[in-house]
Amino acid sequence: MSNSPTQIQLTQPDDWHLHIRDGDVMKDVLADTARQFARAIIMPNLKPPITTVDLAKAYQDRIQANLNALGVNSFTPLMTLYLTDNTSADEVRKAMAEGIVGFKFYPAGATTNSDAGVSDLKRCHAALEAMQAVGMPLLVHGEVTSSEIDIFDREAVFIDTVLEPLRKKFPDLKIVFEHITTKQAAHYVRDAMTGGKNTIAATITPQHLLMNRNAIFTGGIRPHNYCLPVLKREEHRIALLEAATSGNSSFFLGTDSAPHAKGAKETACGCAGCYSAFNALGLYAEAFESVGKLDQLEGFASFFGPDFYSLPRNSKKITLVKQAQNIPSELPLGYATIVPLRAGETIAWSLV
Ligand code: DOR
Ligand code: ZN
Repeated sequence: MSNSPTQIQLTQPDDWHLHIRDGDVMKDVLADTARQFARAIIMPNLKPPITTVDLAKAYQDRIQANLNALGVNSFTPLMTLYLTDNTSADEVRKAMAEGIVGFKFYPAGATTNSDAGVSDLKRCHAALEAMQAVGMPLLVHGEVTSSEIDIFDREAVFIDTVLEPLRKKFPDLKIVFEHITTKQAAHYVRDAMTGGKNTIAATITPQHLLMNRNAIFTGGIRPHNYCLPVLKREEHRIALLEAATSGNSSFFLGTDSAPHAKGAKETACGCAGCYSAFNALGLYAEAFESVGKLDQLEGFASFFGPDFYSLPRNSKKITLVKQAQNIPSELPLGYATIVPLRAGETIAWSLV
């Protein structure tokens, strides 16, 4: 493939990290994702969180009802459970038997609806041991939460104080370091190998490939560019772009599209999360094109995720064209509205 094409064909991608919430907003956000992706890993940070297989099945049924209402029959939600101090080894084994694809580890207090998250990983020893034994992946929000640690350093400190000790203790545990934002994380995952096999991978969001922390403050405070982990310096964005476009199968697509109503973002204490689902593939194409690496997009978006999760690759093809698309300034979100990433701007690439 030439690296300045006007059209590219890809195996249909999946989104390996997605928030679709619940209730009356779910249908609107699900429609955007299902238009582009064949599958998505559904994050369990609802209120209350999805902590058991039974809760996940009920949530999956509600997702299916929304897909039916949308007339979508070509999208599969992949369900996860929320790890707590009380998750039992039995629940892990049951989850594995019932097709749950991972457990999400939120350090308590790290982000949206993480209050019920893990207070100390030592409390999860039995669950982690069972996950390692059955091959259940641990999906990690990699930030320490201590108020003494600068918010821009929380991911790097997490690597040294939580992730590395965890991997030493459970060397065969499959880990996805979610939505990485730093050079330290990109290099850690790139260089990680235990006994000749790679047990750790990372997802990367479109916003962390396209923006640095200036974007939160350009001309005034920009709440729609605020997410967690927060955007970092340009050197980190460059390291992430290098990792994503390197062809290294340890890095794959996960949008972390995280819908919050406009009013919950534009307020004195606004929620964290960027809504990238509207044209996520266009955003990734723009990032890859910016470094002349569109030929690496298919591996990142469509192959490396299913390979890591031991799921089949999709067979359907999709086409992206270089045709400017206007991003609306607002979109419907249940009874409210949402401001998508790049609202009111244009994106060069669109899905046919
Ligand atoms: O910005 C974020 N929003 N980061 C997260 O980790 C959670 C997410 C959400 O659920 O809103
Ligand atoms: Zn997330």
